[in-house]
Amino acid sequence: MAFVITDPCIDTKDTACVDVCPVDCIHPRKDEPEFAQATILYIHPDECIDCGACVPACPVAAIYDAPDSTPASQKTLVEANAIFRTGDPDAVSRAEEIVKAHVASHQDLMQIPAAERAAAHGK
Ligand code: F3S
Ligand code: F3S
Repeated sequence: MAFVITDPCIDTKDTACVDVCPVDCIHPRKDEPEFAQATILYIHPDECIDCGACVPACPVAAIYDAPDSTPASQKTLVEANAIFRTGDPDAVSRAEEIVKAHVASHQDLMQIPAAERAAAHGK
């Protein structure tokens, strides 16, 4: 199991989660080349140790504690988190395509300010 970043992170990219993660498994960091092009940040599921530190750090409640607890409206982003790999252009573009498709199919959620969006995610 691993924690999952979801759509309130889109264009927010606060990075407070990066600062508190003890195993540096949230990417891209600000000093990584993909940061500018990435729409959201991603948690590497094999490296995440489920410590929970990132959840309260996120100002827009974008992080869920497992794929199973990630709401149905956000499920496709579980895969985006899993496939993103810093330094792998193919993985980066595949992850970003998933995010773009998510945005296109959830315009209702995108109309809600990021800080209020998690409340509208549903179950
Ligand atoms: Fe890192 Fe712990 Fe979150 S390992 S991604 S801060 S759950
Ligand atoms: Fe995104 Fe929240 Fe981290 S906005 S970058 S998940 S602190």
